[in-house]
Amino acid sequence: MIGVFDSGSGGLTVLKAMRDAYPSIDVVYFGDTKNAPYGLRSREELSRLTVAGIGFLLEHGASAIVSACNSVSASLVLSLYEVLPLSNVPLIEMVGPCVNAFKGTNARVALCATTATVESGMYQNAFHMIGKDIITVAIPELAGAIEKGEGAEAYERYIRAAFAQVPADSYDILILGCTHYPLALDAFRRSLPGKPIFDPANAVAERIATRLWPREMGYGKTDFYISAESAQFRGFAAKLFPDGAYTVTVLP
Ligand code: DGL
Repeated sequence: MIGVFDSGSGGLTVLKAMRDAYPSIDVVYFGDTKNAPYGLRSREELSRLTVAGIGFLLEHGASAIVSACNSVSASLVLSLYEVLPLSNVPLIEMVGPCVNAFKGTNARVALCATTATVESGMYQNAFHMIGKDIITVAIPELAGAIEKGEGAEAYERYIRAAFAQVPADSYDILILGCTHYPLALDAFRRSLPGKPIFDPANAVAERIATRLWPREMGYGKTDFYISAESAQFRGFAAKLFPDGAYTVTVLP
């Protein structure tokens, strides 16, 4: 069973890509709605929440982990393997599969993400390894606004403000470096018209083919656990998985 970890609703966009590619995987998902948004938290807090979140998934039967939260990618360090029983558990995160998709391309890349992700330098470093410099743009309020369901007008305001100083002709493609952002895709399209947008979710789903398939073949079961009640989470889940074939448990 694959454990999917995010601060809340963002991981649903990754799970959607996973499910579309592999309908029969079994998934246990932990969305830390109580502590979301993650993107404004310190590295120390994120590391603590990562240990708790991934630990929860392991306790609930996960035999592989997809960390569908860019903001905690910097916390997936070797020391995590010292505190959690991860030695036989494959762990897939967002940065590697995304950067891999740009290997050998000439596209000039801009990446937008939470403050935590941009400040972690994870994407900048990984892109340097394939010989690319990228533009990074933090949109500090956006993931929290999506998690609260503030609506399209607010999303566009945050996106436009973040990109105000970024010349449109300075990049060819925009990467959504936060898994919440595909939930505001229309707001991105309206705010940055004509820009191709890359959602790393499919690259992550492809990584499942190489790392976890067929080992994680199952029955298509999805169990969501959230750490606080969230109408937004339930709404996004219902929209992305209209067959309703899942359970949602709110943790005490
Ligand atoms: N969706 C997560 C990410 O990709 C977390 C965003 C947040 O909670 O701020 O970064």
